[in-house]
Amino acid sequence: MPKAFFYVLIFAAICNLFWSGQSLGDDVEAWMKASKLAGEGTFESKYPSATAYRNPLSNLREESEKKHLVGDRLFDKKFSDDLNRPDYGLGPTYNHLSCIGCHAKDGRGALPIVPTTNPWTRLGTGAQIFLRISLKEDLKETPSAENNWGSPIPVPGFGLQLFHLGSFKLRADNPGSGLAEVWMKYDFSKFTYPDGTQVELRKPIFQIRSPYDETTPGSSRILAKDVQTSPRMTPPMIGLGLIEAIPKEDILNLAKRDLSAWGIHGKPNWVIDRQKELQKDPVPLSLGRFGLKANTPSVFHQSLGALNGDMGVTNFAFPKESIEGTELFEAFKQNWKPGIEASDEISQALVFYSQTLAVPSRRNVEDLQVLEGAKLFQTVGCTNCHHPSYKTGSHSISELSGQRIYPYSDFLLHDMGEGLADGRSDFRASGRDWKTRALWGIGLTKVINPRAGFLHDGRARTLEEAILWHGGESKLSRELFTKLSKSQRDSLISFLKSL
Ligand code: HEC
Ligand code: HEC
Repeated sequence: MPKAFFYVLIFAAICNLFWSGQSLGDDVEAWMKASKLAGEGTFESKYPSATAYRNPLSNLREESEKKHLVGDRLFDKKFSDDLNRPDYGLGPTYNHLSCIGCHAKDGRGALPIVPTTNPWTRLGTGAQIFLRISLKEDLKETPSAENNWGSPIPVPGFGLQLFHLGSFKLRADNPGSGLAEVWMKYDFSKFTYPDGTQVELRKPIFQIRSPYDETTPGSSRILAKDVQTSPRMTPPMIGLGLIEAIPKEDILNLAKRDLSAWGIHGKPNWVIDRQKELQKDPVPLSLGRFGLKANTPSVFHQSLGALNGDMGVTNFAFPKESIEGTELFEAFKQNWKPGIEASDEISQALVFYSQTLAVPSRRNVEDLQVLEGAKLFQTVGCTNCHHPSYKTGSHSISELSGQRIYPYSDFLLHDMGEGLADGRSDFRASGRDWKTRALWGIGLTKVINPRAGFLHDGRARTLEEAILWHGGESKLSRELFTKLSKSQRDSLISFLKSL
């Protein structure tokens, strides 16, 4: 028997073993042909539209829809740092003026345009990406109150997020700048398929300049060697309440599957849950589902954390300004009004809105190329992590309960290799781990925001580039993809575009 054929047979046998032993939560035919990706809440759209992510769940009752619309207006609202305005609350440090500024049309963000005159460009008021920061640490095996439940360690004087914007009067030396300036440029590389086809890849590289505490060049705390940074590109807002309604056990069971033949081992993240802290729970940890490293447990925690952090608007869940206690804040205090800036109604409406955005229905489901692509998506092992389907459990918003949904994610962490690594740990996530991204609605990304990028830092301009960056646990899957014929690769991508 020729050697190559032998390997093919072994491979087929391994695959067979795992597909038959693997519970996809629904039969394969069903997910391949499913059109309503988010159960009764799916937004039925016949044609691709730039507003496809902007709709409330279709099954919302009248009362719920009213609440959603209140939240919608607040999500679009620009906050101000002018003490005399009713929409006061922004700053003193922030990354954007409104939720929608980053979550453009409720979709993915884009990297800035780099001018041809200078390879470096500064992140400004329109940036949809920011850096998370923390001090180097060893992953804690036993999170406890003593080590703040394994949460990242704030950089003294800077915290856990680098706010590149600030109120005008915050820094006399650099008006309008926040804790520091963030600059970015691209590193380009080429990928060559076995069939000779080449694809250009790009990766953003970041540099921190002009930090507020710099006395002599390089002296700032943020520039020290033990500081880790992680770029986070804005993800889309659709279907988040449904993800919250997936029974915890279903996600944890996916981590127990034996996918060692693929080199895959999904890992849950366990993260601080603000709601549990507010309820004085002695162990305030929950399973992480949101954020690019599954670093937050709920839409509540993520949304109100963003209102406080990303925009500097304090609220009942996160009542302290993020830079309180720093020298920068002490000097600025006379330009600031103490007290909680967002009313409880504003906070709750933003959370409700974020929980109740619909996922649009699929297109071209019966197309033969799309169906071939769906099969290949499984054959090359994408479904090992991009787990197709779940049935939601019960949720306090009853419209989210008991729905058959197709998010295409296991919501677990995976080592994605050196190419995607940020080198920054986040609770149980290592510097190489990322959460499997949900793929529902992904085919409409460019219709919604033509410049939007894929992956955690928005580096991938196309779905093909996103696949080619897969390494680590997804290396075998990527290799099998690259060995497909051009027409098979096109089919797989046309399946993704139909989602
Ligand atoms: C400066 C840009 C920016 C602003 C402003 C912003 N977000 Fe986000 N949002 C992000 C990024 C980046 C992430 C991923 C965060 C991470 O991985 O830690 C995110 C994640 C989320 C998620 C979780 C999505 C998921 O799939 O895990 C929710 C919910 C969310 N944001 C809601 C909001 C709300 C509500 C507001 C306004 C109060 C807001 N965001 C403002 C950039 C932003
Ligand atoms: C080992 C688990 C794993 C496997 C196998 C895997 N992926 Fe992924 N996928 C991920 C993770 C984790 C991310 C997020 C990476 C990041 O944010 O940088 C991701 C991101 C993506 C994205 C970008 C999504 C977005 O919103 O930016 C696409 C597209 C994608 N995967 C498609 C595929 C396809 C197609 C396959 C099969 C060839 C595949 N993946 C196999 C784990 C996996």
